[in-house]
Parts: sequence; structure tokens; C-alpha cells
Amino acid sequence: MPSMNETNGSAPIGIGLLGLGVVGSAVAASVLSNDGQKRGLKLCGALVRDASRQRAVELPSGSVTTDPDIILDSPDIDIVVELMGGEEPALEYISRALAGGKHVVTANKEVISKHGERLRALATEHNVSLQYEASVGGGIPIINPLLDDLSANELLSLRAIINGTTNYILTEMASGGASFDDALADAQGLGFAEADPTADVDAFDAVYKISILARLAFGVSVPVESIYREGIRKTASQDFRYAGELGYTIKLLAIARRENGGLLVRVHPALVPVDVPMAKVEGVLNVVEAEGDLVGPLWLQGRGAGAEPTASAVMGDVLRTASVIGGTGNVRQARPIDSELPLLEMDEHQCKFYVRLTVRDRPGVLAQIAGALGEMEISIASVLQMDTDAELKNADLVIMTHPAREANMQRAVERIDALGDVDNVANLIRVESYPTDR
Ligand code: HSE
Repeated sequence: MPSMNETNGSAPIGIGLLGLGVVGSAVAASVLSNDGQKRGLKLCGALVRDASRQRAVELPSGSVTTDPDIILDSPDIDIVVELMGGEEPALEYISRALAGGKHVVTANKEVISKHGERLRALATEHNVSLQYEASVGGGIPIINPLLDDLSANELLSLRAIINGTTNYILTEMASGGASFDDALADAQGLGFAEADPTADVDAFDAVYKISILARLAFGVSVPVESIYREGIRKTASQDFRYAGELGYTIKLLAIARRENGGLLVRVHPALVPVDVPMAKVEGVLNVVEAEGDLVGPLWLQGRGAGAEPTASAVMGDVLRTASVIGGTGNVRQARPIDSELPLLEMDEHQCKFYVRLTVRDRPGVLAQIAGALGEMEISIASVLQMDTDAELKNADLVIMTHPAREANMQRAVERIDALGDVDNVANLIRVESYPTDR
């Protein structure tokens, strides 16, 4: 397709970058490339924290600045590309850019998950566009397909692996028997995990991302605080061993699904049958599995992080926005919050559970545990006794239940934990249901 500049010879489209880290540098390189110039893009400035730092990309002299006003107030800049991350000052800069009549492209999942609805309204008020394809799933096209190609569908569910760092850690634990700490250290050594891994391993990152997807897919506001969140710190190497014996692996899943007349949004580790495709999404790969009433099941898999995949999504947004400025295209904005679908509490969720306990290995212990489960109307499907220590007279018990209500399971766990012969309930993992496993 000929570029807008080739077709109408209009003035270049000014790009201002906020942030010049690994993704920002890859985006700058793309804008400065021959292809970027042929498409009429011009890099007018880049906001950095430290102007003296060496970067992977050489920028035109004088275009690097530590003063946000140079970017936000420049009449030459049409599109502000925010790649700083974090809530502030990114939120302030995005808001100022939109209010100043500039289009915005951002990869900022925290800002969009917490303030997306307000920013959408601000963009509409000022007749500019706000695009954030790179905020979820790195290079995977998911935001625009939800807004555009899938917009005739009623979405039934989204089920995703949308954090590459934790998927890398869990894959290492599954394949090599690594402990959580060793797999995390390995991920940090390779640059996948941050020095402070909280956002990834405690699942805040995945919560931001599923909040964005759920808002767009279901037309409801899904505040991040409303989402059930559980990270992977409790997942131990023996959980993979025991789950493997039962035909499962463990993945951190982010799920938004219509059920019981409402929408339940949750992020937690889950047992996934080893023979379903999701079990085979390994390392830093991400996947989003959607189900629409018209399209049926849909599978989008790709690289969920990294400079180039993220730059692919950012540049897609930049070029879409450029075509609007050139008068040859349009962008889809998120639809306003228009659904009455209530958000459901996790307490009402029903699933099978995997329970790992360390107990005294002596007569009557299993009966006490079965009694506590029975009192809460939870039915046992199978019990495995593992890793018996004859000297300490301890054993690991793994109990698989039939489908049970979350609130009942939590109460049962409290009662079991209080039993004298139970050292602890070491882990409780929900079993995700797939058509092959029903
Ligand atoms: N930290 C994220 C991940 C990548 O591990 O998937 C950026 O969204």
C-alpha cells in the first residue's frame, strides 16, 4: 500500500517519545528507518531521565531532552508515544498530551487498567486517539482485534497466559525440577525478571492486563482491586511432580468469563491438563484464548515481551494513528462502559481443587481431613500419599476434589489447618476445566 506521504505529499507526522529504554529505542529505530521516513514519520524528540547515557539507537542531535514540556508543548509533535511505564508521571503526561490535542500511543498497562475509561473520554473530548495495543501481550495483536474484528461477537470468555516472566519461571520448574527461588534467579540473570520481581510474580502485571482485556471484551469497568489475584510464590517443585502424576502441569492463568449471569475475573496459578494446547505454551510466550458467540474459540499466541515484539505493537498503533492524521484511515476507540454485567465474587466460583498438605503419618489422620471436607460438602476424587518420611513420621498428602465452591473450600482449609495432626496446608491450587477434562 502506498504511504500517506506518497499519496498526498502532506507534512511529516511528528513523533515525540516519552522514554527511551529498550522498547523506546526499538521504536525510535523503527521511526528513523527508511521505512519510517517513507511513511512520513519524523522523530521530533525523546524524553529521557539521563541525557548523557549511551543508547542502542543514535538520535538526531538535540532531540533528546529531560524536559517533558519540550515534547508535550511542541507544535511539531502529532503523536506522543509513552513508553516510560509506571503510573506517574506517565498518567500526567498522557493526560496533558490528549488535552493538548495530541494523539497518544502507549504500552502502559498500569495507567490504562486504572485510568483507561477516563483517558478514553478525554481523547474523545479532544477529538484525538488513544491506542494501547502493546499494553497486553507484547507483540500479540489482541486489543485491536477485540475493538474491531471481533466487535460483532458477544464474548463468552478470555483465558490467557499474559505474563512471560512467570511463564518462564513455571516452565523451568516444570521441566527441570527447579525450585521457585532458583528459577526466579535464572529469570533475573537472563533479564526476563526485574530485580524486584513483585509486579510479575505476585501477578499485579497479569491483573492490569486482564482488567484491560475484560473492559474491552465485555464493556464493563473491571477495577484492578475487584480482580481475584494470587501469584506464584507458593508454587513448589513438588507441586509439579505431584500434578504430573495426576496428568497436569501448572500455569498462571488470567481469566474473565461470563458465568451465573455475571462476569468473574481472576488471576491465579491453575492445574492445566498436560494434553491441552495451553499446557504447551512455554517460556516467555503468551497466549490469549478467546471464545465468541460467532467466531467460536480463538487462539492468539506470540512473544509477550521484549523490545522488538513490543515495538511491533507500538508501531502498528503509530501507523494506524498516522493514517488517521493523513485522512486515509480511522481508529477504533474502546467502547464506552455500556454493560450491566455484574462482577462476581471469587467466593461463588466452583472448580475442582488440588490440596497439598504435610501431615503426621499415622492412623486416623485421613479420616479427620475427609471429615472436615465432608462438613463443607466437598467430595474427594482421589488421594495420593507422597514423600513419606519414616523417621519424622511425616508425609505429603495430595487430595483432588470434585467441583466445590471456593468459599466452602477456604473454610475447609482453615479447619484442616487447625487439626493437630496436620503440619500445614502447603498449597491449594484450582484445577482449570477444559473440554477434554470435564
Ligand atoms: N513483565 C511482563 C511479562 C512484560 O513478564 O510478561 C511486560 O508486560
